[in-house]
Amino acid sequence: DSALDLKGKKVVITAGPTYEPIDPVRFIGNHSTGKMGFDIANEAAKRGADVVLITGPTSLKTANDSIQVVKVLSAKEMYQACHEVFPSADIVIGAAAVADYRPKVVADQKIKKNDEEFTIVLEKNPDILASLGAIKTNQFLVGFALETENEVEYAKSKLKKKNLDLIVLNSLNDQGAGFGKPTNKVTFIDKDFSIYPQELKSKEAVAKDIIDQIVKSYVE
Ligand code: PMT
Repeated sequence: DSALDLKGKKVVITAGPTYEPIDPVRFIGNHSTGKMGFDIANEAAKRGADVVLITGPTSLKTANDSIQVVKVLSAKEMYQACHEVFPSADIVIGAAAVADYRPKVVADQKIKKNDEEFTIVLEKNPDILASLGAIKTNQFLVGFALETENEVEYAKSKLKKKNLDLIVLNSLNDQGAGFGKPTNKVTFIDKDFSIYPQELKSKEAVAKDIIDQIVKSYVE
């Protein structure tokens, strides 16, 4: 059984959206609720791991007091928090929906309504998982891919580009998959590009499958 098969392992999980500030009252965000990442954190803790959950803004609570929760706002903050714990991590799972871009200038004061059109210039955020993939020693690195087209191809290219050991693909074309919903439908793609499609399940059950897959390829 799966009892305490992660005992002695430090598992770092990212969850939720990031908020990229525009001014003191506004931000650019996305629809992630954090549930997928929180469910993975709860499952890893249940199975004996030492869990650090790095989460963007969400109203969720962890189910296990042993989980160390690090709250962040922006992609930059999530990047810093991830790099702080990475050297001591055994497994990192990136379930957060990290903003790829942020406003280049953050206004000090609330921006006033004025012209008919208003332009915000965006600049690229660092890719957190890719930056970890570039420096990893023996950490097992797991990413997600949220796609709307050419799903498997894009997921494979992310797996490679970010130097991941496993990628969990979810497609917004699948009913019941992705943001907000209590369910998800995922496909695992491992380093050899072997593809393992899964059934539609509750996110709790998907979290268990993800940990099982990691244990199979890394811990055992
Ligand atoms: O939070 P829920 O409402 O439960 O929804 C769950 C989810 C749909 C958010 C989750 O299952 C999911 O797919 N998370 C990843 C969403 C995403 O941003 O995917 P992506 O394909 O853009 O990114 C690929 C991977 O790189 C992800 O692991 C992401 O965390 C990571 N990334 C992306 C950009 C960036 N700047 N840094 C990163 O580390």
